[in-house]
Amino acid sequence: MEYKLRKAEPRDVPDILRLVKELAKYEEMEHQVTLTEKELLEDGFGDTPFYHCIITEIQGQNSSEDPKVVGFAMYYFTYDPWVGKQLYLEEFYVMDEYRGLGIGSGILRHLSNLAMKTRCTGMMFVVAENNEPSVQFYKRRGAEDLSQEEGWRLFRFDKDSLVKMAAPSEE
Ligand code: ACO
Repeated sequence: MEYKLRKAEPRDVPDILRLVKELAKYEEMEHQVTLTEKELLEDGFGDTPFYHCIITEIQGQNSSEDPKVVGFAMYYFTYDPWVGKQLYLEEFYVMDEYRGLGIGSGILRHLSNLAMKTRCTGMMFVVAENNEPSVQFYKRRGAEDLSQEEGWRLFRFDKDSLVKMAAPSEE
């Protein structure tokens, strides 16, 4: 199947949010998605983009139809003080009916080229422990499981904890 990869534009925000929600549903955590199109637009397409997206689209049977967005990857750059620049893969999703056609591999090829061009030394990502198909998908391409091999644990301060820590001291 012919597909096209391109950088996301502001007009893609509704499709990005749709795919974010589909992935969250796949991971059985849909209720945790509270982000709005407005926030996605401001955060990704303002003066300081907090994320970047690569979009996959396919042309419908009829050339007068708009192309359909069927997959995406959201990423940004982080820094590892031991080895330098890293590409962080935040979200990676292809709609169910378009899986197994090479689109995901095409997205990873694109991101690997980008990582090489920007002299990143690795691509980091988190996978839910019960998402075994994706764990195997990444492992078949050489990914190392750092939780298992190096014992890292994933932490987060939620907003309440941040508010508490940020509150001015009573003294
Ligand atoms: N569904 C999934 N995989 C299939 C299917 C199918 N129906 N049929 C065959 N496969 C096999 C393919 O043979 C291929 O095997 P390979 O690893 O030996 O090459 C592999 O699964 C799929 O390869 P592609 O076609 O290149 O990738 P695809 O377009 O299916 O995209 C992706 C891969 C993004 C992981 C997709 O399966 C997906 O969206 N999964 C559900 C969401 C998900 O788990 N996303 C990753 C979360 S982790 C994160 O976001 C950092």
